[in-house]
Amino acid sequence: MSSSNSTLNRRDFVRGAATTGGALLAGAALASCDTQGSHANGHPFPVEPDLATGGNIPRVPLRIPAVVSPVGLALTAAPGVASVLPGKATPALLYNGAFPGPTLSARKGDRVTVNYTNGLSEPSITHWHGMLVDHANDGHPRQVVGTGGTHAYDFTINQRAALNWYHPHPHMLTGGQVYRGLAGGFIVRDEIDTGLVGNALGLPTGTHEVPLIIRDASFDSSGGFQFSNKSSGFFGNTPLVNGTVNAYLPVNKAIYRFRILNGCNARIWRLALNTGAPLYLIGSDGGLLDRSVALTEIGIGPGERLDVLVDFRTLGTNATAMLRCLDAGWDLLQFVGTGISVLGADIPTSLTTIAPLGAPKRTRRFTFDGMTRLNGKVYDINAVEFTVPLGDVERWVFVTNGNGPHPVHVHGASFQVQTRTGGPGRVFDWERGWKDTVVVNDRETVEVLIQFVAHRGLYVLHCHQLGHEDGGMMANFEVV
Ligand code: C2O
Ligand code: CU
Repeated sequence: MSSSNSTLNRRDFVRGAATTGGALLAGAALASCDTQGSHANGHPFPVEPDLATGGNIPRVPLRIPAVVSPVGLALTAAPGVASVLPGKATPALLYNGAFPGPTLSARKGDRVTVNYTNGLSEPSITHWHGMLVDHANDGHPRQVVGTGGTHAYDFTINQRAALNWYHPHPHMLTGGQVYRGLAGGFIVRDEIDTGLVGNALGLPTGTHEVPLIIRDASFDSSGGFQFSNKSSGFFGNTPLVNGTVNAYLPVNKAIYRFRILNGCNARIWRLALNTGAPLYLIGSDGGLLDRSVALTEIGIGPGERLDVLVDFRTLGTNATAMLRCLDAGWDLLQFVGTGISVLGADIPTSLTTIAPLGAPKRTRRFTFDGMTRLNGKVYDINAVEFTVPLGDVERWVFVTNGNGPHPVHVHGASFQVQTRTGGPGRVFDWERGWKDTVVVNDRETVEVLIQFVAHRGLYVLHCHQLGHEDGGMMANFEVV
């Protein structure tokens, strides 16, 4: 695709978006017709979100967070007001005033310099989930700063292109801070996945590449967040996509790339399109998979990411499609066709090479017990529970007997999921490739291979169900 084409395409897109004001109403009408019909996968099709605020909230345009460079960035976490429900102000905790936080975007090789300021009334620190950084830059719970405190991050990106994310990581306070709004995407690009027109795989770019932070929340009648930091996990009654309730996105007749993050405290999404059309999975936590795979549904637990292509090339003007969660039975995001054709590359089949990790030198077993313990212990911020030699491939076995699912997350390295036994009995397509978070269900054992190659230093392993994490289901370890 030439750059003049892309200029034209963007202009067309803007025109398309502008004319969708009228199309929107038509789209909304179509959607309410849809709700009377049956769902492609046989699931009953309610369901406007169960809003505590009551009332029928009209569909509004999907919010797209501003994209900013993390090179020389001042990042402040502070109380603010988010606009989430019509006519209501939601007191929130925000990165640079935005809900969700701005999307950071940088290239492999870039030197990230972020001056973080904690403007909250309680301790905090920011962790770059999925970024392979040294201890000083990891936002480990030991690094919390108090109100008005600062932390200067300075690291060079040396990892595969991927959607990562950033959020607070203070011990016992992460759940509430993330829930009240502190989270944002962090896109890393590289020579394979440049995000520019003409990238090697022809992946959709510009307005056709859309980040989706999908989470839940509950609101009181004045629009405030309702929350309780219970270990069993907080489940909201309303889905938000990029901080938008009842969002729609105008889409051209084109292939779109969605960079999806589950930003929930506890909820697992099972994503599908109401049309039964496939989601083409091309990447997971740590970047592109070896090959794309067409799936009619995809699971994603808290902290996990997905890279998905959707083919809207046959979606007519004002026709709609809905991204849904089959488990919650919720509509998440409505797509409304603009009818504008935009040429682009086809869905690529072969994507990248992923070298399987070799034979492990040793095996470690981790039990996720109750709602607050890992290997029988509540998190001790001062302890170092084990050490891992830099460069050794190890087999880590995650075990649980109950209180799951536990989305298990490791700082400092990516891993490759090998086996899953006792539950569904298989590793899902979306668990292939490089992962840093994997869901472990009740009575299930999940084996991964992991190799720390980036940095020596102190990291954590923890459950990313934030009630469990804050309750103490976390352990320090040191790469030596
Ligand atoms: Cu997303 Cu240790 O965190
Ligand atoms: Cu857990």
